Amino acid sequence: MKRHILVTSALPYANGPLHLGHLVEYTQTDIWARYQRLRGHDCVYFCADDAHGTPIMLRAQSEGITPEALIGRMHGEHLRDFTAFGIGFDLYHSTHSPENFAISQDLYRALRANEHITVREIEQAYDPVAEMFLPDRFIRGTCPRCKAVDQYGDNCEVCGATYSPTDLIEPRSAVSGATPVRRSSEHYFFQLGDFSAFLQQWIHSGTLQEEMANKLDEWFAAGLSDWDISRDAPYFGIPIPDAPGKFFYVWLDALPGYMAATQHWCRAHGRDFDAFWGKDSNAELYHFIGKDIIYFHALFWPAMLEGSGHRLPTGVFAHGHLTVNGAKMSKSRGTSITARQYLEHLNPEFLRYYIATKLNSHVEDIDLNLEDFLLKGNGDLVGKVVNLASRAAGFIHRYFDGRLASNLGADAAFYDTLLAQQEAIGAAYEGREYGRAMRDIMALADQINAYVDQNVPWLLAKDPEQRAALHRVATVTLNGFRVLITLLSPVLPELTQKALTFLRSPLNWDGLQQPLTDHVIEPYTHLLQRMEKPQVDALIQTPTPAPAPAAAAAPAPSPAPAVDTPATISIDDFSKVELRIARIVAAEGVEGADKLLHLTLDIGEAATRSVFAGIKSAYDPATLVGRLTVMVANLAPRKMRFGLSEGMVLAASGPEGGPFLLSPDSGAQPGMRVK
Ligand code: 2FM
Ligand code: ZN
Repeated sequence: MKRHILVTSALPYANGPLHLGHLVEYTQTDIWARYQRLRGHDCVYFCADDAHGTPIMLRAQSEGITPEALIGRMHGEHLRDFTAFGIGFDLYHSTHSPENFAISQDLYRALRANEHITVREIEQAYDPVAEMFLPDRFIRGTCPRCKAVDQYGDNCEVCGATYSPTDLIEPRSAVSGATPVRRSSEHYFFQLGDFSAFLQQWIHSGTLQEEMANKLDEWFAAGLSDWDISRDAPYFGIPIPDAPGKFFYVWLDALPGYMAATQHWCRAHGRDFDAFWGKDSNAELYHFIGKDIIYFHALFWPAMLEGSGHRLPTGVFAHGHLTVNGAKMSKSRGTSITARQYLEHLNPEFLRYYIATKLNSHVEDIDLNLEDFLLKGNGDLVGKVVNLASRAAGFIHRYFDGRLASNLGADAAFYDTLLAQQEAIGAAYEGREYGRAMRDIMALADQINAYVDQNVPWLLAKDPEQRAALHRVATVTLNGFRVLITLLSPVLPELTQKALTFLRSPLNWDGLQQPLTDHVIEPYTHLLQRMEKPQVDALIQTPTPAPAPAAAAAPAPSPAPAVDTPATISIDDFSKVELRIARIVAAEGVEGADKLLHLTLDIGEAATRSVFAGIKSAYDPATLVGRLTVMVANLAPRKMRFGLSEGMVLAASGPEGGPFLLSPDSGAQPGMRVK
């Protein structure tokens, strides 16, 4: 029976590039959607940029552009990267869309009409200079526990303490550097507790992975509190109806973003929106998400849907996080690899395949081990799969005019043993056990390679009497190759397309029952280039060593040497150094260090850096606050006696004096790249 299926992946924020961690999820979802279509089901796959919220608003501000311009650019970049990785969305939409404004507001109105919304005053940190309320992440200060400077308002990265921003010592706004004050305002809340009984039942209805249900039980035990869904202006988001100056918190309109994409697509394709989202829908609805956003998708979202008269998800599938070479992705270790960086060096299908080999239906982290990645990609896809085609096609063209034999003869039974695995592999895809599917497919590839080795076609080719046998062996080998490609097609869309063009065969799951016989194929052209080790090594950027000596960061505030002929470096070496404009938002002396100042730098994108610089002899810290300078933004952080130094500011010095801090001309903004 033909199934109607809607799948989604989580909506990436529109304020940063996609990285390999993101791609785990889109690859997982895309493989599943492609598998469903391969089985003849009606499966649509929607996603969108998550375009609202304070970080996006502030990033646009620091770039000197409108939020609309920023999200427009990001949408283009995200879609370009997704397309390059073969992610086949039916629509890649945006939460900043007319459909989403209407749907989010309607959903809210329904929740309000059903008395699930309440309003009360709350007190929060407010930046009197930037004139805005500050999310916890935008308050920095000294950790109340370990006294580490420049920690976030909600947790300390040095000692791991969690606290509220009011506990910070000397809190500052990361937006303006001002000391936050307490201010109260009216907030709107969604009463999640109204749905306790419903959610308890839903969570255990078989919709969720067991480990997810267990995690939710823990949250239940802690009690469901009201969810604060409003934010005060200035905020880049969707206005709350009948509440001037109030906007939906970004998550409140992100989740309906799934519906908005559906609606846009339905209108363009003459399809019925309610057939997907209405209470009586008989379509299946699945959300693929990361484990960090289970709370939103398995508590808030079903409650919002139930409270507003919509259908519920058929399944919510969470995956774990990606580590690279066993460690969390980290910018300073060079293992935070963006999709773009990957595409500069390698074919995306190798990553899709590797991710598939690692995925199962559980919420487990997966590791991208680069050595293993190189071996698996080349060994499995080039060595075991593609080589079959190149070896067999030569015989077919050399001796048989490109035409396959008219039957598989004595080896038809061998072909049938390959097909015997087809349904089990299909079931593994269906159950998101891709690792198992890949192992089973490679076991078939091993069998076909063993078949070739046993039948020694290269020896048969030497004997004109053995033409029929050679024809049969090459034909069976190419049919085996077709089986492998069809089974791998959800994972490797580009290789599939090239391979099926070469075989002159459509993609057809059931069509494998009929082997290609008495059928002309194209001459073999290269299907997949091996990866070389230097390409893989290039993914990891080694942290840049300390640059030119005139830089004034600790721990070595050494004067510049007399000018002499410097060693040359290549433009590539230079381009590894990321120089950025930074605004000094705080400057202070460092106890026990005569030459150092501790600087807090705003480097755009709502990020700040803490840097120790050897410039105290030349500057009164108070005169530095507000000043722009140039910093090395990708220097590996260094742990010093006084704290962590996260970069270096640039200063000139020589026998004539110094240090002289570098400053850009007026007009430069924090975060701008120096090139
Ligand atoms: O965690 C995130 O990256 C969010 N932007 C995901 C949103 S998913 C959905 F709710 F829209
Ligand atoms: Zn601490």
